[in-house]
Amino acid sequence: MFDRRGPTFIELAQQALSSTTKGYDLLAPKFEYTPFRTPDELLIPLAEAVGGPIDRALDLCCGTGAAMRALRPICRKTIAGIDLSQGMLDEAERLLKADDASQSDSEVRLIQGDVLEMDFDEEFDVLTTCGAFGHILHHQQDQFAERVHRALVPGGRFLFVTGPMPPVASRAWWFSRTFNGIMHVRNALIKPPFIMFYLTFTLERAREVLERQGFQLEVRTPYEDTPYPAARLVIATKEL
Ligand SMILES: C[S@@+](CC[C@H](N)C(=O)[O-])C[C@H]1O[C@@H](n2cnc3c(N)ncnc32)[C@H](O)[C@@H]1O
Repeated sequence: MFDRRGPTFIELAQQALSSTTKGYDLLAPKFEYTPFRTPDELLIPLAEAVGGPIDRALDLCCGTGAAMRALRPICRKTIAGIDLSQGMLDEAERLLKADDASQSDSEVRLIQGDVLEMDFDEEFDVLTTCGAFGHILHHQQDQFAERVHRALVPGGRFLFVTGPMPPVASRAWWFSRTFNGIMHVRNALIKPPFIMFYLTFTLERAREVLERQGFQLEVRTPYEDTPYPAARLVIATKEL
């Protein structure tokens, strides 16, 4: 399915029937060849928006480290990633070592853990996350935003890509509603659950949750000439 080197339909089904962590452990060796890996077309403008050198950055739900590879050349001291899945972190380590373009003297930290439980205290200048909001349930979003806020130094920035809620009855809206319905049924019938839902942290919802924590939001549109014209780059800045 997808790329020739990606998972087969049967493998994807096995992963979806596992827990979120186990599912990603199974998917890890083939994850780079799935459409779930955030494409560089989205990551490069994000790294450019971070701009000049910074000391420390942390990518949340880093998976196989795609954003870490984009950010590493501009991190002077530390590029860190946190993820639930040790399998994904192992791949991230392998790919970071193999990627000549992202080599630098900065320390690489790969942390196995839950972003909802992370307790970093004013440690990072920049936090990022890509392709992972679907794993944070609606009622967990404020807790997530509170942990992000605490992890950043005063004036620190949280950068991510999302999009506005598509019109009701559009293709994207129907796809997400149908997919989410199937996941709710799957999770009601099979334990442990696989937490993944679409359109949960839209631009509108992100603004509501992050402004509640005191972030100031700037929304940019660097993706108009890419295959993702609806995507928006959000830079949420913590107060000084
Ligand atoms: C779709 S992948 C995206 C990976 C990477 N950010 C990318 O864009 O290529 C989602 C990742 O989020 C991780 N994840 C899901 N829930 C998490 C949580 N609560 N804490 C930390 N990682 C989580 C999964 O293990 C998986 O690696």
